[in-house]
Amino acid sequence: MSQPRLRTVVVLAAGEGKRMKSALPKVLHPLLGRTLVGHVLAAAAPLGAERTVVVVGHGAEQVRAHLAEIAPDATGVLQAEQRGTGHAVRIALAAVPESAGTVVVINGDVPLLRPDTVGALVEAHERAGAAATVLAAEVPDPTGLGRIVRDGAGRLERIVEERDASPAERAVREVNAGIYAFDAARLRDTLGKLSTENDQGEEYLTDVFGLLVGAGEPVAVHVAADATETLGCNDRVELAALRRLLRDRVNESLMRTGVTLLDPDTTWIDVTASVDRDAVIDQNTQLRGTTRVGTGATVGPDVTLVDTVVGAGASVVRSHAVQAEVGPGASVGPYAYLRPAARLGEKAKIGTFVEVKNSEVGAGSKVPHLTYVGDATIGEQSNIGAATVFVNYDGVAKHRTVIGSHARTGADNMFVAPVRVGDGAYTAAGSVIVDDVPAGAMGVARARQRNIEGWVRKRRAGTAAAEAARRAEAAGPGAEPAGAAQSASDRAAGAREGEAIHGDAEAVHPAPTTGDTATD
Ligand code: UD1
Ligand code: CA
Repeated sequence: MSQPRLRTVVVLAAGEGKRMKSALPKVLHPLLGRTLVGHVLAAAAPLGAERTVVVVGHGAEQVRAHLAEIAPDATGVLQAEQRGTGHAVRIALAAVPESAGTVVVINGDVPLLRPDTVGALVEAHERAGAAATVLAAEVPDPTGLGRIVRDGAGRLERIVEERDASPAERAVREVNAGIYAFDAARLRDTLGKLSTENDQGEEYLTDVFGLLVGAGEPVAVHVAADATETLGCNDRVELAALRRLLRDRVNESLMRTGVTLLDPDTTWIDVTASVDRDAVIDQNTQLRGTTRVGTGATVGPDVTLVDTVVGAGASVVRSHAVQAEVGPGASVGPYAYLRPAARLGEKAKIGTFVEVKNSEVGAGSKVPHLTYVGDATIGEQSNIGAATVFVNYDGVAKHRTVIGSHARTGADNMFVAPVRVGDGAYTAAGSVIVDDVPAGAMGVARARQRNIEGWVRKRRAGTAAAEAARRAEAAGPGAEPAGAAQSASDRAAGAREGEAIHGDAEAVHPAPTTGDTATD
């Protein structure tokens, strides 16, 4: 092990990235959880550099704002005119105090770089006492990249850009990855000697190598074990290719730690997300940002989770969640939408076509069907009837609804906030609840039903309905409606099996809701 050294990291991120054809600066394009420059900074982070300088130019304000978020300790240095990678490093070093030690330069557009590779490059460079070391890779198609030119003995002679290369040099498939380690003092010296006599009329950082060789200084080449790490990103086709490579890398490492991915090709997990062992991720699933999936949980198919926590053993099916928390053993979906600050307790259930926002759903509580839960607190073991709306907004301000524990609310309720339903309370189906319901009470808020006998016979004479009504009247009172015979026998069978036939039905009309108790 070499002595710990002073280290400076310089990330080059001033270029426009013309071929991206984007209003967004190239280095800010996202790639599975980080921007391109974010990946580069993450790869360099373990170096523990004294200082990190990011050269900004195109979209400087946007890039600086992003840096303030992801790397507040980094210094942004403006390169107003992009006069080449050598010029960029010259400006970067001019902005920081005279430094000794190692300067690591990384192009801002090589997001697949691994921290270990950067570490190994720097270690090799420092151990050899080299003036400069370049990371190289053997690639099948070197088009557009700088070539590593070696002499007969295999020693680095220079790095030549493709556009300045001879046909023989172009045939070389060993390329410059755009990541380097330099001795600070010798780099500063040599940067002052760069010329612009090349096809682009720019100061090339790569020319530092030829100049050092000419001065008899020791330079080295460190060959990357995995050439895909050195892939740059110049257009959106390359960006998509990098995304697939990174996806495969993330997925493979998860599978190796004991996560089942049923369809890795359609599973997109950000590098910032985590999945614990024995979780099962089904197809078409995206885990973004700081999402964490607990052990034994099942997620997917067709799920997108953004900054969401899924507890151990929970299940999320065909749903979308943003900044939500799904408790251990809870179940979500199919077709649920969890919005920020939706928090589900242990074994809670959020069912089909249910949206939850800024609400707690307590342990074991269920919101099974067709419901909007906004700004609510629901206690434990409560059941919210189908097609309920938590009416949280009066057009000016948002208000909260509180439902206690062991409450059972009827189907098609509106809870007009602010309102409270006590522990063990019930509400009747179809109620618009505007006043608090005390613990253990039945809240009923709807008009009494009246039936106008014979209305169809009088007002819809001659229709099929009138004819059906006539037959029913002829059959006499107490006869089952035609077509009901089958469902009646189903009900009987269900009851025999001890099946909870009102598992759903309860949500539709809680048992004691006699419906005509409005005046009770
Ligand atoms: C560069 C290398 C090439 C190498 C390739 C690896 C040079 C001269 N060539 O070529 O040998 O194979 O990377 O990907 O260095 N930048 C600035 N300021 C500038 C110019 C560029 O900050 O004035 C930044 C860009 O934003 C980019 C990085 O430097 O992040 C590399 O620049 P780019 O133009 O992409 O260089 P390449 O042509 O890819
Ligand atoms: Ca490039």
